[in-house]
Amino acid sequence: MNILFVCLGNICRSPSAEGVMRQRLEQAGLAAQVALDSAGTAAWHQGKPVDPRTRLAAQRRGYDLSLLRGRQVVVEDFHRFELILAMDANNLRDLQAMCPAHAPAEVDLYLRRYGLQPHEVPDPYYGGEEGFEQVLDLLEEAADRLLADIRGRL
Ligand code: 4NP
Repeated sequence: MNILFVCLGNICRSPSAEGVMRQRLEQAGLAAQVALDSAGTAAWHQGKPVDPRTRLAAQRRGYDLSLLRGRQVVVEDFHRFELILAMDANNLRDLQAMCPAHAPAEVDLYLRRYGLQPHEVPDPYYGGEEGFEQVLDLLEEAADRLLADIRGRL
């Protein structure tokens, strides 16, 4: 199974989603069966490491995001990934606009799909430190539900 997490810049929310989920899969012994990646709808941070504020907040919870690098979503992603999970409604709209007809990917809003409130992961980029903690709180909750979903599909 292949899952892609998508936000705007691919330096805060979607790499965090990827890092949290990778740890959940490793703990569940399912890392070899599910491939994860993340990407941004914008190209601004292509090739750049994860935002240092995000990296630090993640590191404090035991997630290592140091090897991840930003990349932009490409049309081929809709053929490579079965599940593409957007962090907010703008990301979802942008993904839907570029999704080719008949592409196999299921594109959805991550938190809403798993019955969580709020439905969107708020963009922490221009805010304070608490925003980075909130992102991780939401993504940890979502990861547990995504893991349950994956177990049902494998
Ligand atoms: P992300 O956060 O979409 O969670 O990676 C952002 C990163 C960068 C910018 C905006 C949001 N930016 O404007 O550069």
